[in-house]
Amino acid sequence: MKKVIFVCLGNICRSPMAEMMMKQLVEQQGLDSEIKVESRATSTYEIGNSPHLGAIAELKKQNVPIVRHTAQQITSQDFDSADLIIGMDKQNIVDLKQMAPAADESKIHMAYEALNSNAVIEDPWYDHKFNRTYHQLAEVLPIWLEKLKS
Ligand code: 4NP
Repeated sequence: MKKVIFVCLGNICRSPMAEMMMKQLVEQQGLDSEIKVESRATSTYEIGNSPHLGAIAELKKQNVPIVRHTAQQITSQDFDSADLIIGMDKQNIVDLKQMAPAADESKIHMAYEALNSNAVIEDPWYDHKFNRTYHQLAEVLPIWLEKLKS
């Protein structure tokens, strides 16, 4: 079993969208028993809260199945149990590297690294552009899935 954890600042917008979109890809490829998908926050801001209604609305519009989720901050056990930890922007990566046990630092990647790009999955928290988040994630998630399969 391989495990990927998507991480953003609050775990209510970008990373739960990534989790649900990746779960759909995993299910479509019949890989449920091989690949586990989770999401976490770097911060404590939204712990216990449900995903943003704008994120849920966008996922529904795109026919991505909605999975029950409440925001959680990443823990040292998460760093240990994951094979891949994927942050959305540069600050996520700075925070994750600061929080990670040294042995797990190499698991941390920024989402657009999949396309050899420095681009970031922009935060929709301020401008509510959840459609942009969906399209950005749709560009990179299939590549991360291929990496998990190999
Ligand atoms: P996310 O978006 O990191 O994509 O979940 C945010 C959620 C909450 C906050 C900022 C960004 N906040 O400041 O509470």
